[in-house]
Parts: sequence; structure tokens; C-alpha cells
Amino acid sequence: MSELEKIFESIRQACDVPLSQATTLPREAYRSEAFHRWEREALLAGGWMAVAHVSQIPLAGDFITLGLLGEPLVVIRGKDQEIRVMSRVCPHRAMDILPPGYSEGRLTTAERREGLPESCGHARFLLCPYHSWTFDLDGRLRACPEMQLAEGFQRDEWGLREFRSETWNGFVFVNLDGEAPPFAGDLEGMAAAIAPWKPAELEVVLQREWECEFDWKVLVENFMESYHHLGAHRKTLQLLMPAKNTWTEEEHRRYVHGHLPYTAEHRAAIEDSLAKGDAETGFPVIRGLEEDGLSHWHLYLVHPCFLFFTGHDCCAWYRVEPLGPGRMKLLTTLLVPVETTKREDFAAIMERETQRLLAFHLEDMEVCTAVQRGLASAGWQPGRLSHLEMPVWLFHRFLAARSRGSWPTADRPPAPSQKEVTS
Ligand code: FES
Ligand SMILES: [Fe+2]
Repeated sequence: MSELEKIFESIRQACDVPLSQATTLPREAYRSEAFHRWEREALLAGGWMAVAHVSQIPLAGDFITLGLLGEPLVVIRGKDQEIRVMSRVCPHRAMDILPPGYSEGRLTTAERREGLPESCGHARFLLCPYHSWTFDLDGRLRACPEMQLAEGFQRDEWGLREFRSETWNGFVFVNLDGEAPPFAGDLEGMAAAIAPWKPAELEVVLQREWECEFDWKVLVENFMESYHHLGAHRKTLQLLMPAKNTWTEEEHRRYVHGHLPYTAEHRAAIEDSLAKGDAETGFPVIRGLEEDGLSHWHLYLVHPCFLFFTGHDCCAWYRVEPLGPGRMKLLTTLLVPVETTKREDFAAIMERETQRLLAFHLEDMEVCTAVQRGLASAGWQPGRLSHLEMPVWLFHRFLAARSRGSWPTADRPPAPSQKEVTS
């Protein structure tokens, strides 16, 4: 049996049993090059990965650069308002047309928009810094000096390569291999659940990049399970959303949905805040939310790695860029309705909330890094799961299903909700 087959086998053993008997994955799933190669092809390049939110690139010419699975990409809004995901590799001699530091010399601060990472910018056209080939915002080659003697050279055949992309609820997703089924299929339930937040109209007000010494799956598992409120977040999130009250919906084919009910005190404080229109429970309470939105955090994972949560006051999206087994880059973002950003006290609220969110995010970064270190131990054997770790188990069932070329719930009945067990 190949190394990959052995890992598949142990993943299936870990999760093809009821949650009450399930274990974690073997350490090789987070460390093996062979397994990582399979993930890249079958899950990541072969699936849909979120690369941007529309509010990050509101104007024609606004762009974001990122590297995804070794592909240098630019996400850019064209003059036709279409958002495209294109390769940054120059079709001439493979230069990165927007190399790190590019913005420094070429764009004024105003063009870079104050406070945004260097990976965000604005351009009227894309100019390759090597031999000055120039591309329109839609990737077409507009000009290339001194090419008149190149026989049969047709300018319209040498544009930037475009990858297949789709925008769903304000998030731009890319499918690198071009073969995935359309993005929105089987996501109607999730689209309805997040609709009250009007995700396409939210604004990214905070974004931070993190170099992470842990595997992307360690992050997905950490983001989705709330059992660790008891440990890592005992002084922060546990006080507002105690682990024992959290529960996970019945298994869905494409996504996992976790519910994190607030304490009665927190729920009452939100009611108070809503009545007064103040920001005592975070950002101002989002208008138009029903009980379900005012009383919980909702956590979502759209397989393989779209991580999103909604709260009574804000939402967050984590952009995942796997770099190799045990390594990734992360962009954490925070989204609020535009009306929140227009308040006079917004800067003060933002400062306070940034600190609060960073505090619990750092708690997560610390444990994820330490878990990856732990996975280096040859003596460690897969551990047992709590019923509160149902999202971890469901994620493993996704991996197991994909290893069989199938999808969760496609070839077996969906796992039931854990609500009854936890209440
Ligand atoms: S490599 Fe881009 S113009 Fe030559
Ligand atoms: Fe956490």
C-alpha cells in the first residue's frame, strides 16, 4: 500500500464510525508531502477557494495580489466592473507583473488607500516591470515595445491567463483547475442562513496577514470547534459562549454549520444595546437580525477551507493559503455593515474591538502552532473526540468522502445534529 493509501485508510478508520467512537486524524495527514500533494490537487486546486471580498476592491482598477498553491494571482476589478482572477505571470518571460514592493515606487499613498496591506492597490493598467509589456485591467495585452520583427506574433494571443472565478454573497472564489462543479450548488441552506447579514454589502474594515507554522487543516479544525473555549478562550469567548452550549447542525454535503449560543446575560446586554443604539456589546448591533442572529455566533466551513462567522455585531472571514504540509498563510478580516462605519464613534469602537478580536485570535494562533509542534512527536497516537468536536469529525468525513471520490451525505445518510446531545 502506498503512503497515500495508508493515510486514506487511517482517515476512514478515524471518522467512518459514529462521532461517539471517532478519533482524530493520524499525524501524517498534517505532515506528509504525498498527502499534501493529493490535497492540493483534489481538494484545493480542484475546489473553490475564497480570494477576496468585493468591498476590498470597490473601484475599477482596485486589485489584491496573493499566491495560491504556487500561482501568483491578482484579483482585479475591470472597467466593466467585472472581477477577474488572473495570473500575475507575464506571458513574455514569466516575470511577476506585480512583484512585492511594486506598489512602493509606482503608486501614491492615496492610490494604495491608507491602512491597507501592500497586497492591495489600484492601477489604471498593468505594466510588467521587466520589458514594459502593458496589459488592460481585463488582462488583454495592450502594448509591447519592439516586437514588430517577431514573426506571426499576434498581440491578442498574449494576454494574462484568467482563472475560473465566481462571486457568491460578496466573496470571490477561484477554481484553479477549472474542473469543479459550479460554486453555489448545495449551498442554498447556508445562503438563506447568512442572508440577514447581507454579506455582499458588508465592508472589510480590518485585515491582517499571518505567517503560520501549522497546517491549514489545523486552522480549519480550530476555527470550527468550540470545545476549546474551555481552555484556550476560558478568559474570553467562554464567558460569552460557553462550550457546553454549542452545537452543530446535521451534516450537509458542502458545508458545516456550528451554533454558539450566547449566555442569557450577554443576550440581555445585546437587547439593551439595540434599544439604546450604543456599542456596549461590540460593534453596534446589526439592524434587521432576528432572534437567531441576536443570540448566537454562527460558524461556517464551506469545504475545503472557506471560514466565515456571523455575530450580532460583525462578521469575519479567514482567507486560507496553504503553503505546504504544516505551513500556511492566513488573512483575517472583519466585516461590518456600511452604516457602522459611518458612525462618529467608529474609530474608537474599531480600536477597542480590534484589541478584543486580536486577543482571542492570538489565543488561537498559539494553540495551533503548539498543536503542529505536537504532531511532530512520533509517539503521539490519534486522540478521542468530544461530542462538542462534531465539526472536526464532519471535516474528516469530508476528507474521507473525497478520498473515495465522493461527497459527504452522497453515499450514506447525513449525520444527525448534536443539538439533543448537548442540551
Ligand atoms: S517578462 Fe514581462 S515584459 Fe518581459
Ligand atoms: Fe478559537
